[in-house]
Amino acid sequence: MNGSRMRVYFDYNATTPLAPEVAAAVAKTSQDLFGNASSVHYFGQQAKAAVDEARSAVAALINADPSEIVFTGSGTESDNFAIRGTADAAEVTGRRHLVASAIEHEAVLNTLKALGRRGWRPSLVPVEQSGLVSPDQVRKALADDTAIVSVMHANNEIGTIQPIAELAAIAHERGALMHTDAVQSTGKIAVDVRALGVDLLSLSAHKFNGPKGAGAIWIKRGTRLQPILTGGKHERNRRAGTENVPAIVGMGVAARLAAAKMSAEATRVAALRDRLEAGILRDVSGTVVNGAPTMRVPNTTNISFDRVEAESLLIALDLEGVAVSTGSACSSGTLEPSHVLRAMALPAHRTQNSLRFSLGMFSTEEEVDRVVEMLPRLVEKLRGLTRKTVSA
Ligand SMILES: Cc1ncc(COP(=O)(O)O)c(C=O)c1O
Repeated sequence: MNGSRMRVYFDYNATTPLAPEVAAAVAKTSQDLFGNASSVHYFGQQAKAAVDEARSAVAALINADPSEIVFTGSGTESDNFAIRGTADAAEVTGRRHLVASAIEHEAVLNTLKALGRRGWRPSLVPVEQSGLVSPDQVRKALADDTAIVSVMHANNEIGTIQPIAELAAIAHERGALMHTDAVQSTGKIAVDVRALGVDLLSLSAHKFNGPKGAGAIWIKRGTRLQPILTGGKHERNRRAGTENVPAIVGMGVAARLAAAKMSAEATRVAALRDRLEAGILRDVSGTVVNGAPTMRVPNTTNISFDRVEAESLLIALDLEGVAVSTGSACSSGTLEPSHVLRAMALPAHRTQNSLRFSLGMFSTEEEVDRVVEMLPRLVEKLRGLTRKTVSA
């Protein structure tokens, strides 16, 4: 993509490049709409109108009403707001229990841990070997005082899509609220808050070719939650702080683009992902795909390479100009096996030897073929090194 030789970026689940239309809108807004969206004068009202247009665009992408969208600074903040905000509001009712799946993003898992230190009881629901959350396990985990169930729509490491509507119905039977982290599904597959039947949904602009520093939470009308950022009356008293107008406008443009191109892009990217996956399984011995093969977002594949340490292969690929990931970006750089693959109860050699390839807007067939072509050589070299170290 960039640089003198062709670099390949297959790490779209970590973050995506800006769509050109988004970059143009962010630059123009930064220049032209510097007003504070809370100001009553012309400059403020121009900024407010731009934020409201973005709110409509984000709402349309997930079949929501614009009044139910609150802009935040990130997916992480949206997850925190959903869980902490609900917990704070539910405290007076005596509810003290939280449920999430064991494969949630750290934004959810560490929020549960933090609430655990404040007297809440978090329960983590195990997943099946496919990475799917079983509705029966969620039913078992629920208690009379469960305040909220949080299960991600699509997993960031393996791409698995969860049966959210079914899980939401189970949570509601026990009077609990349902939150879904849709950070990795929004923009890749249809996300419809009504069809999912949830009460709260998190999204993040930089995962669908929007800017970093813009996220949103959808809060179903009537859902009780306390703000976690207190201050001015921004976002209808739900999230204080002067709006990041250029990033929000960029998120709106990215939302409109994603909605317009969704089905064509999903088909195109799935074909590339399938070509990559088939090529690797065919040409590299000892490879296996992790996660449910069908219930998956179209851009992601997670593959274990027998007898190769994932970090070494990641570095070897990077030296060849190819960017991939060993799972969640936060755990890269450490040799900790992924909590997602561990929760799937895969054998140790699969949890430690897996790479995530995630494709997107600028991915091409040429890039796929280049990666398929170089991998057998890189893998054989690393396996050779391991053999030498072992016999030395
Ligand atoms: C599933 C999921 N949730 C939440 C986040 C956090 O989003 P953000 O980077 O906008 O804070 C990520 C980002 O990696 C993610 O993949």
